[in-house]
Parts: sequence; C-alpha cells; structure tokens
Amino acid sequence: MKHLLSIESLSRDEIEAFLQLGLKLKASRGKARQPLPLTGETWALIFGKSSTRTRVSFEVAIRELGGQSLFLGMHDIQLGRGESVEDTALVLSRYIHGVVIRTYAQKEVETFARVGSIPVINALTDDEHPCQILADLLTWGEKLQSAARKKSRGLTDLFRGKTAVFFGDAACNVAQSWIFAAARLNFHLRLAAPRSYQPAPSILARAQHAEVRCFEDAHQAAEGADLLYTDTWISMGKEEEKKERAEVLAPYQINTRIVRAAQPRALVMHCLPAYRGQEISADVFESHASTIFDEAENRLHIQKAILTTLTRSLKSGR
Ligand code: CP
Ligand code: NVA
Repeated sequence: MKHLLSIESLSRDEIEAFLQLGLKLKASRGKARQPLPLTGETWALIFGKSSTRTRVSFEVAIRELGGQSLFLGMHDIQLGRGESVEDTALVLSRYIHGVVIRTYAQKEVETFARVGSIPVINALTDDEHPCQILADLLTWGEKLQSAARKKSRGLTDLFRGKTAVFFGDAACNVAQSWIFAAARLNFHLRLAAPRSYQPAPSILARAQHAEVRCFEDAHQAAEGADLLYTDTWISMGKEEEKKERAEVLAPYQINTRIVRAAQPRALVMHCLPAYRGQEISADVFESHASTIFDEAENRLHIQKAILTTLTRSLKSGR
C-alpha cells in the first residue's frame, strides 16, 4: 500500500493489520527498538484547515518513529496562492519522504498521490477522514475485547453483528468514512439525521454491501445500539450555515434520552472537537469522557501504524 487516501480503498485485512500494529505500538510506546522506521526521513504536513489532534499526533508520531516533521500551513506555501497541486507534488517529492494533507477536495490528495512519488496520507478532506476512523475502530475493538474479557484473534471479528449509530450531519466526512468502514467490516450502521443531512444516494450506492440505514427519528435509531457516535454539526468550511445547522440538527443530539434507548453498556464516542450542549449534552460527554479521550489518544498509536505501514511497503516495493 503506497498511500492512505480513504477507508473506501482499504480491504478488511488491511484495516485489521492497521489495528493490530496500532495495538502493538501502543503497548510498546517508549520501548521502540533501533533502527526506527522513519530514521533519516522528513515528512511534511500540509494543512489547509485547523487541527489539534491530527496535527499533533502526526508530528509526535513522526518524531517517535525517528523522522523529522515539517508543518506547512497551506497559505504559507505557494499552493495557497494558486500554484498547482501537481507542481507542488513534483517539487516536494524531490525533498521529502512523505506527506500528510488536510484540505477540502478529496481530488487534491488523489492528485498529489498520482503525480508525486512519495506516500500521501489523507488527514481529512470534505469526503473522508480515514485516520480518524481507524483510531475509532481501534478504540471500539479494544473496548469490545475488554468487555469480552478474552483476546480475540482479530479486532475486526468483534464488530460483526454489532450496531453503531452516527448522529447529526450524516453527510460529513467522518460519517462517510464510517459508511465505508461498515461496508468492509459487516457491522450495522444507522445514520440518524434529517433528510437534508443524510448521505447522497451515490455514497450509499458505493457501500452497496453495507448494512446502512438512515433514520429521521433519533430515538428509534438508538434503540438497542452498541455504539453511539457523533461529530460537530458544523464541519470546517460550513461555518456560514451555523445557525441553520444548529436548528435543524438539534433533535439529533446524543443526550440521556438517547443513551437510555441504547444497550445498557453502549459506548459513546466523539471524534472531537466537541461542542457540549450541541451535538452531545454535557452530562453524557462527561460520563463517557474516558472513552472519548482514549479515542483521542489512539490517534497517536494509529498514526504510527499508518506511517510504519506506508514506509515499510515503499521500502519493500509492495
Ligand atoms: N478529530 C480531529 O481530526 O481533530 P483535529 O481537527 O483537532 O485534528
Ligand atoms: N466533520 C468535522 C471533523 C473534524 C475533525 C470537520 O470536517 O470539521
């Protein structure tokens, strides 16, 4: 695998391999053996949108794997003034060993990957947030494993037959990556959203084997669920729709009523940043904070798994 551009492009085995490596790297943090996989490498982060978790976890991961990171705000480089993605990819491929990109159009990360000669990681576009969903799956798998009180051979086996529910803007990047994850891993995914915030039929068609159902009634969507998940109602780039979104999405808040409809030990997860009182009530957030911050921590372990996998496959020519 040369790039990580989407969840849609991953097989079940590839997802399992990322999760297993993430678990291993989590257990061995601080005890890494030399030579470190990114020794002598410089990776750039090109970010056209704000970030706390993705930026910091990638910068720390690159350093802990022996490499150097270079943060390039999209508007600090010529890309932000109209230089083409193609020329940027060709030039940066002469200097650096890999790139992590956060931008708007999915096409930009795809173009960079096609034209350049270095690994490209999608750190969030308007269409997908693959690194987030891999960390979410790692967290869900760990929690299911500890609830089962036994080690299972594959974390992805644990998701089979389970029900996850995404509440809010079900047409956003995070929701779309969850749809593609459900298509690969055979869990049931419910999307609780008003009709105008449900995914486009073309997205659902691309996940044709997935057990994905849209619900306009949030309570009905939550009934008997194993995992309740939400994301901000106002994704980056949608700030002008703030007022309208807050009104239309209000019935899709994860709150005590919703939690009571789910399984008694259902997990509540949030990719963060969270806006308490909007997509999640403050009391539900606080009661599930330990899972949510484990999920945030897992961003670091999974970023290391992604960087290690891409650099290993480049070196082995696979
Ligand atoms: N969840 C997530 O991607 O957070 P950041 O926007 O802070 O990177
Ligand atoms: N859907 C959100 C995710 C933030 C991590 C956004 O795109 O802003």
